[in-house]
Amino acid sequence: MSTSADEPTLNRILTMELGRCTEAAAVAASTMIGRGDKDGADQAAVTALRDAFNKLEMDGTVVIGEGERDEAPMLYIGEKVGTGNGPKIDIALDPLEGTTLTAKAMSNALAVVAMALDGTLLNAPDVYMDKIACGPGYREGVIDLDAPLEENISNLAKEKNVDPSEITLCILDRERHQPLIDSARKMNSRVFLISDGDVAGVFHTTEPSTGIDLYVGTGGAPEGVLAAAALRCVGGQMQGRLVFRNDDERGRADRLGITDLKRRYYLNDLASGDVMFAATGVTDGTMLDGVKWERGFVNTHTVVMRSKTGTVRYIRARTRRS
Ligand code: FBP
Repeated sequence: MSTSADEPTLNRILTMELGRCTEAAAVAASTMIGRGDKDGADQAAVTALRDAFNKLEMDGTVVIGEGERDEAPMLYIGEKVGTGNGPKIDIALDPLEGTTLTAKAMSNALAVVAMALDGTLLNAPDVYMDKIACGPGYREGVIDLDAPLEENISNLAKEKNVDPSEITLCILDRERHQPLIDSARKMNSRVFLISDGDVAGVFHTTEPSTGIDLYVGTGGAPEGVLAAAALRCVGGQMQGRLVFRNDDERGRADRLGITDLKRRYYLNDLASGDVMFAATGVTDGTMLDGVKWERGFVNTHTVVMRSKTGTVRYIRARTRRS
């Protein structure tokens, strides 16, 4: 998917810079792998990401961040980052997607950032979101957030020209997802359960080597916007709806100007316009290797992509460390 030629676009050099930022966050987080301290790991990533952002020539605003201003000292929603010169950019970030994965040295922890022109990323409150996503190449509308899961599986199977038993779903391993897992079992489909990290979960649907066709379930809304930014770059479909459990959560939406609490968001509602996305592996994962330290050097594996061109670059970097 791309923007038309006369729409404003992001400076392409920023795409590579974005990769440098996620590298810095991942390297910092990697020092905390397996230490059982998820907050410490997150903090290391946050500090490094903020330092990296502040070197960039941009007038950036965090729209998806570490929380509201009164609860997050750094990279809070509304914080200005960058030198203040250059394009006005909205930033969605998760310096460490998979804090528990990192603390327990489990796979698929990532540092993730998306950038878009001012006003084009959904300012999602820190609440849950019901999500459904599939990869590129299917008829628009093949997935439907409001349809029973059995119907989604069977429609996707028809499109793929396979039996539903050949469809693989990725679902966060949570008690709340038991009904979804039961539906998938009824269809004899495969279920790939992940303990955390649904940005990677959604992204897996776009990469045939993972074998995952469909992502379903309830996860963080901020993670939903980040995953949508990634899908905007590589193709695929996604729908989401915010989930509110109490008045405090409804208040979060209110403060961001969200009035239709039941709205179904499509991919372009979550991330529109020209979008850039970058992720660096912290621990080894299905699509990105984790950070590897060796004497005097650190090795990173990063993916950077841009919706305008659809270019996906995997970057392996070896940087000197004193
Ligand atoms: P953290 O990195 O903040 O720990 O989030 C991990 C994550 O698994 C997300 O990928 C997912 O969207 C969310 O937590 C699910 O929330 P919960 O753990 O409450 O089910």
